[in-house]
Amino acid sequence: MSQKRHKHKSGTAASSADRHALYEIAVQSVETEIDFVDETFTNIRARQAGFLREDFCGTANSSCEWTRRRPSNHALGLDLSQEVLDWGIANNIKKLNKKQQQRIQLLKQNVLHYQGKPADIIIAMNFSYQLLKTRDELRGYFSRAHDGLTEDGILFIDAYGGHDSWREIKEKTKHKGFTYYWDQKKFDPITANMICHIHFKFKDGSKMKKAFTYDWRMWTLPELQEILDEAGFSKVTVYWEGTDEDSGEWDGIYSTAEHGEDEPAWIVYLTAEK
Ligand SMILES: C[S@@+](CC[C@H](N)C(=O)[O-])C[C@H]1O[C@@H](n2cnc3c(N)ncnc32)[C@H](O)[C@@H]1O
Repeated sequence: MSQKRHKHKSGTAASSADRHALYEIAVQSVETEIDFVDETFTNIRARQAGFLREDFCGTANSSCEWTRRRPSNHALGLDLSQEVLDWGIANNIKKLNKKQQQRIQLLKQNVLHYQGKPADIIIAMNFSYQLLKTRDELRGYFSRAHDGLTEDGILFIDAYGGHDSWREIKEKTKHKGFTYYWDQKKFDPITANMICHIHFKFKDGSKMKKAFTYDWRMWTLPELQEILDEAGFSKVTVYWEGTDEDSGEWDGIYSTAEHGEDEPAWIVYLTAEK
């Protein structure tokens, strides 16, 4: 995530907006995500997980959601950026009660090298592993995650694709008070490298351009499954989202699948069992 400072005309909506707060609203849905992670772990392992590690945790929103769920839940968030961790502490962890705060820890650490107490669950969401551009780097990260899990631990990642995901296109979504832009700026078919930006535009016309920038590789599902397998995981499963029969829209329910549909854009979860 780019750490660029933003200059805006003072007095505009963009000048007083907080990019992390906007990101959480526009990009994340941590309740749904943690519902899926918690239920899927329990279904696979016939026990509840207790300790969740959130890799590339950013503002640690998911870790906070995990900590709120049960008094027996603990979370550890890892991120390289002190700026984003500080924001998470000031804005998310502060909102937890005292007891919940004692069950969560954030560390400025490189997930490629981190070694610590084994976790029941490791999550790496919003495609953060796509920052790793070579097979060796990605396998190295997955192996490190494998080592960081308990004997019955599970790694959860998400992935996106579909023919629109390889195109240089910009899409916008309206939210209360602002519009979110996902800008697939540059795609290189030879390397599968993609430069993407997130921009925000406000009702007064002011803009926060390149609030976040990602320079990453568009890994495909076969590649991800193969590399997770090479990293030592015993079983890798893809969860495809269902469609609502009436509207034909995605219904938010993810089920195990061995084959998908040729949709222009899709998001899946993957589990990798130790
Ligand atoms: C796309 S954001 C992910 C935010 C969050 N996981 C989510 O679901 O929205 C990627 C984050 O990964 C962090 N990051 C990048 N490389 C890292 C590394 N090697 N170790 C730890 N954190 C890293 C960045 O600082 C950034 O906060």
